Amino acid sequence: MHSNLTGKVCMVTGANRGIGYATSVALARAGAIVTLVGRDPARLESARDAIRRTTGADRIDYLPADLASQAAVRSLAERFRDRHDRLDVLVNNAATISEQRQVTVDGRERTFAVNHLAYFLLTRLLLDLLVAAHGVVVNVAASRHRDAVEGIEDIDSLTGYEMRSAYIRSKLANVSFTLELARRLGASARANSFCPGATATEALMQFARIPPEQWQQRLAQYPSPDTAAEVAMSVITSPGTGRYLEDGVDVTPSPQALDQDLARRLWSRCSALTGLPED
Ligand SMILES: NC(=O)c1ccc[n+]([C@@H]2O[C@H](COP(=O)([O-])OP(=O)(O)OC[C@H]3O[C@@H](n4cnc5c(N)ncnc54)[C@H](OP(=O)(O)O)[C@@H]3O)[C@@H](O)[C@H]2O)c1
Repeated sequence: MHSNLTGKVCMVTGANRGIGYATSVALARAGAIVTLVGRDPARLESARDAIRRTTGADRIDYLPADLASQAAVRSLAERFRDRHDRLDVLVNNAATISEQRQVTVDGRERTFAVNHLAYFLLTRLLLDLLVAAHGVVVNVAASRHRDAVEGIEDIDSLTGYEMRSAYIRSKLANVSFTLELARRLGASARANSFCPGATATEALMQFARIPPEQWQQRLAQYPSPDTAAEVAMSVITSPGTGRYLEDGVDVTPSPQALDQDLARRLWSRCSALTGLPED
């Protein structure tokens, strides 16, 4: 990896482990100024220290935020603005998976709230800083967005909850949103998404329903998050907007992700649910 992002201001969510951590390391190596976002200050501090130690980069910082809470996302955006007047790279990456339906403080189903509404709200709250930098939003999605799920617009899982269906809905929303955002931004900033592929992380173990006592052995069978981080870096540093990648190459996403009426409906719905105007 020989990217040069010296002085570029970046934010990565879900940065204390997994693909978010590996991407933050790659950004730090490329000379970027990186803000790590995650729920837990102690885990973030330890990730920041490890990145500083392994890369020698010193402009790595963190902002704690539980992305399940819209108030926390708004506070995160404000705290970021106190420190920076531009944002070159926003990597929306944090995700959660749960066997049980959970409801957030805002009354939303938790998987959709963390995996998509937080992407949507954070991006829109920081959009002027991204445009100021002519920057790029990278939404970490999944090829699973292609799987057929009943009630794709039942974003709160009101007609029944199933872990994988809730996850798939959120990942379809990621790709649909990215394409709609790219259409709305035109040439003012870029918006792309990608599937990292099956990667050795806790999220994969949970999705595959592997018992925790087998995680260590099973994790060894999958590519490390560094492989996914390479794809993230290529999406960040190469030109183009409205892109979607699998296995590191541009591919056409699912017909539902390409459905512009669905994308507009989801945009309106997410705007209403986050208290944002349509535009
Ligand atoms: N791994 C794969 O095989 C795979 C395949 C396709 C797509 N993906 C996508 O890749 C992305 C990264 O996943 P991963 O595999 O690296 O997952 P991971 O190792 O489980 O990491 C998830 C990250 O998100 C953070 N997070 C979870 N809930 C949060 C919340 N409420 N607020 C703030 N941060 C929160 C976690 O922090 P905590 O430590 O606080 O929990 C952690 O840093 C996700 O978008 C996922 O959908 C992964």
